[in-house]
Amino acid sequence: MNPHLDLSRFSNPLLIGHRGYPARFPENTLASFRGAIEAGCDMIELDVTITKDRRIVVIHDDTLDRTTAGKGPVRDRSFEEIRRLDAGGWFDPRFSAERVPELSEVLDLTAGRCLLNIEIKASAFEAGYPADAIEHQVVALVTTTGAEDRVIISSFDWRILQRIAAMDSPPALALISDHGADRSVIERLLAMKAFSWHPRFKVLTREQVDRMHAAGLKVFPWTINTREEAQRILALGVDGLICNELQVMRAV
Ligand code: G3P
Ligand code: CA
Repeated sequence: MNPHLDLSRFSNPLLIGHRGYPARFPENTLASFRGAIEAGCDMIELDVTITKDRRIVVIHDDTLDRTTAGKGPVRDRSFEEIRRLDAGGWFDPRFSAERVPELSEVLDLTAGRCLLNIEIKASAFEAGYPADAIEHQVVALVTTTGAEDRVIISSFDWRILQRIAAMDSPPALALISDHGADRSVIERLLAMKAFSWHPRFKVLTREQVDRMHAAGLKVFPWTINTREEAQRILALGVDGLICNELQVMRAV
């Protein structure tokens, strides 16, 4: 449990939009997040990384190529350069006015409307741990906007999570994983007072869900796309589904 996070106003299991509502909108844009809220999601999952001039932006890939009209690594471009790029036309020309959002804009847009799962990309980890490292900036944005009661910060990278766990009264934390979790993983999660475990759904078993629950950890698997997958995974007793097609999943 985390003393800040409050899930009481939301469904159980949670309906979680992966990068917003990517089946119908360009992923990780404000259009996608608005669409997810309108589709009735409880939580939005999104990805953050850092620009050359140390701004926190919402984009999945390390490069601009797939989801914007630009090219090259995000970390080699300033926020202003990135902001000029069309971040929606690749999906449909109707969305060509979409831009790569800053995390602060998404915190504003979603305030009072839904929970947020902020995934810090492992590639944004900096060994030198500067004062404006991504994990510091993300936690500062969450706390200064009073969003601790509706945010889970997740990462594939233990080092990022452990740095946040060592902060004063941190927000809820989650490990994302491609693999099943053994006893040692659960012990490490408990040691940093993690809130949840986010496994690739294909590795999930009933036994794993039960072990996490026995340890007091919630389980939010990703990325569930079909009704059949949703039915199978819900039957394991998970606490939410991270999915791409929210209206279909809502019906399930
Ligand atoms: O947060 C779970 C999931 O989003 C992790 O994979 O590649 O979609 O960020 P990816
Ligand atoms: Ca993600």
